[in-house]
Amino acid sequence: MLKVRGLKGGYGGRLIVDGVDLDVAAGEIVTVIGQNGAGKSTILKSIFNMAPVREGVVTLDDQDIFPVSSYQMLTVGLAYIPQHHSVFPKLTITENLRMGGYLLSDAKLLQERVAKVEDMFPILKERRKEYAASLSGGEQRMLEIARTLIMDPKVVMLDEPSIGLAPKMVDLVFSTARLLAEAGKGILMVEQNVRRALLASDRGYVLELGQVRITDEAQALIADERVSRLYMGVRS
Ligand SMILES: Nc1ncnc2c1ncn2[C@@H]1O[C@H](COP(=O)(O)OP(=O)(O)OP(=O)(O)O)[C@@H](O)[C@H]1O
Ligand SMILES: [Mg+2]
Repeated sequence: MLKVRGLKGGYGGRLIVDGVDLDVAAGEIVTVIGQNGAGKSTILKSIFNMAPVREGVVTLDDQDIFPVSSYQMLTVGLAYIPQHHSVFPKLTITENLRMGGYLLSDAKLLQERVAKVEDMFPILKERRKEYAASLSGGEQRMLEIARTLIMDPKVVMLDEPSIGLAPKMVDLVFSTARLLAEAGKGILMVEQNVRRALLASDRGYVLELGQVRITDEAQALIADERVSRLYMGVRS
């Protein structure tokens, strides 16, 4: 579904992502792991056309989306949830969901999509009239994910969905990602919480200095001695 080839990306002449290939299939959760500053966020920004320096090929269902502006990405089926939390705290949960459909001109369709997404997330539905600020960190992350669904994306990219969350909330966020995958979406995450993220994923890519060093099934990466030594604090 999402296919990335030879991706390069950076800022003002500084290349951070240096020739990355990756794929995300429908129904699959794929995670990019790597240390602070390895370029994980820059990969997502480069795919989403938000990096000033950018080169490569990005296709979604064989359609070339590389030239698509980030503003238009949602309309071709790609959603992106940045590292920094982005709910509108003083809007209600339903209003936040409606904001996810600001590109939809058909009011009836927007209404239908909001209702459908609320049905998918009972926690949000029950509290639909409350301010988003009243939700816990994990529930806010869930709302951010739910909000992207209003545009019915094919692939959802998540930057550090578990950062700053209590363990129980991390479970909530990763199970939300699985719910989306079961609905046929492709999920591309970047995560520092390596073990938890791999446990929640199907496949993974290990990024070092802007390049993919290892790629495998998530289970195999968890068992990989290099990965556990470098990223999971296990000493050999
Ligand atoms: N807007 C920017 N302008 C200039 N340099 C940037 C910018 N954003 C990131 N960088 C640099 O690019 C490198 C990679 O950053 P990136 O945010 O992609 O790493 P990361 O793997 O996501 O790290 P983290 O785990 O800390 O989120 C870092 O050296 C960072 O300082
Ligand atoms: Mg980052």
